[in-house]
Amino acid sequence: MLYKPAHNLLCLAVSRYAKIGLRRITPQSRIDISSKSKTLELLSTFSSSPEKRYFSLSISDMADQVQTSAPPTRAKNDLSDMRKPYRDQDDGIEESQLPSRDPIKLFEVWFNMAKESNTVYEPNAFCICTASKDGQPSARMVLMKGFDDDGFRFFTHYSSQKGQNIAENPKVSMLFYWDSFNRQVRVEGKAEKLPQEVGEAYFKRRPQSSQIGAAISDQCSLIESREALMNRYDDLKARLGEEPPAKPPTWGGYLVRPERFEFWQGNTNRVHDRIIFRRPVEGEKVDEKVTRPAEKGWLMERMLP
Ligand SMILES: Cc1cc2nc3c(=O)[nH]c(=O)nc-3n(C[C@H](O)[C@H](O)[C@H](O)COP(=O)(O)O)c2cc1C
Repeated sequence: MLYKPAHNLLCLAVSRYAKIGLRRITPQSRIDISSKSKTLELLSTFSSSPEKRYFSLSISDMADQVQTSAPPTRAKNDLSDMRKPYRDQDDGIEESQLPSRDPIKLFEVWFNMAKESNTVYEPNAFCICTASKDGQPSARMVLMKGFDDDGFRFFTHYSSQKGQNIAENPKVSMLFYWDSFNRQVRVEGKAEKLPQEVGEAYFKRRPQSSQIGAAISDQCSLIESREALMNRYDDLKARLGEEPPAKPPTWGGYLVRPERFEFWQGNTNRVHDRIIFRRPVEGEKVDEKVTRPAEKGWLMERMLP
């Protein structure tokens, strides 16, 4: 990327100060850097400010203003010839062969295959993508701790970025990828907090080390070093002995109620299968050529790969 000279300066300043550390951005810390003069003004604020707290905001805002050069034909770390064979063409999925037309049951079959194969280290790990009110998506892995007809459960800190996002915008997207099966399952839906007692009950079942881990961290504050983090851990462990800590009030579970599924099966010839389950839109007249009724009020469709 080529930066305009003024932004280049800012970029250098940012990377120098970024070594000191990025700070959490609060709404009050917004600075308009839409003009060149404002950029320089911001730069001087950085230089004299004892608390360097605006950097990551400046980087993202700056991204809107950078001039990009045309990328080369191949990236420096070119991976265009990196590809693996998937399953045989014969393993393609016919709708008639699906073990269930209830997406939760189908998920259960695929999940159990991944779990029982012992070829996927954490088959319950999935990526959950949340988005802030202003539309900035953010993705990270979490562990599924249960699923049933209601949806998918995971536990975290409500104070974390994902928790803050969900509070503003409950729409989430989840992604499971089971590499050894060349399968991904994509789920879109809405997240809601599980009742406190569900969080309490699960917290009690966790190993003490995980309980302490949750108790010493709210997932939304900065800490100066790993040493400081371990000191927190050791202090609490020394105070507790073998007793469990209390569940932090900010820690608990979410239930994601699914509204759309996509079951994806990779095929070696790249003619992959994509089976969609979705809810009918109110008043929708379905096109019977491509949309079929499935179980429990779901509709089933096939999408081009
Ligand atoms: C495989 C894997 C599983 C994880 N499981 C959880 C989890 O169940 N709950 C959780 O809060 N964080 C989990 N994490 C850490 C999150 O990815 C993330 O770093 C943390 O929740 C803070 O995210 P946030 O600041 O975006 O909210 C996991 C990370 C990995 C790589």
